[in-house]
Amino acid sequence: MGLRSARGRALIGLGLALCGVGVVTWLSAAPTQPPTVGEIDARQNPYPPTPDALARGERVYQAQCQACHGLTGHGNGPLAATLYPRPIDFWAHFGSGHTHPDGRLYFWVTYGMPGTAMPGFKDRLNDADRWRVVDYIKTFAPVVQ
Ligand code: HEC
Repeated sequence: MGLRSARGRALIGLGLALCGVGVVTWLSAAPTQPPTVGEIDARQNPYPPTPDALARGERVYQAQCQACHGLTGHGNGPLAATLYPRPIDFWAHFGSGHTHPDGRLYFWVTYGMPGTAMPGFKDRLNDADRWRVVDYIKTFAPVVQ
């Protein structure tokens, strides 16, 4: 009897310890709040748009984006005809004088656009390359201020 309850207490102790581990694991894995649109748009490119950065952005674009968006950014890459919705024409979109804030473009390049073929590049491109390709796509069409 004495032995049984001692073992019982030990089991309860073990159970409580495991619960503790579970709670700590759950707390550390709890998702952080997604950013608001305001926070996304306010994000500034921390990498200056030097000629080297733009040249790098161009190489990234040609490797990762032109198949859909087209070499000249007109939304007419070799894969474009197979997609719905079609990739947008950066010239028509960005040249109209109201492009999206850099932070929004960076967000789409990072996380993709659900419901479209636009993939997220979070795991494929590092932070600097995602910003550089944003700088590069903005060079397609002059933005009217
Ligand atoms: C598999 C095809 C595909 C690839 C690869 C791809 N895109 Fe897209 N992209 C799309 C489609 C489709 C859309 C959605 C167009 C829409 O909103 O209807 C899109 C949308 C976008 C938009 C939003 C444009 C806007 O103003 O609404 C940006 C910016 C963009 N892509 C940049 C990129 C960049 C930069 C890369 C490479 C790093 C890339 N995309 C690679 C297909 C692709």
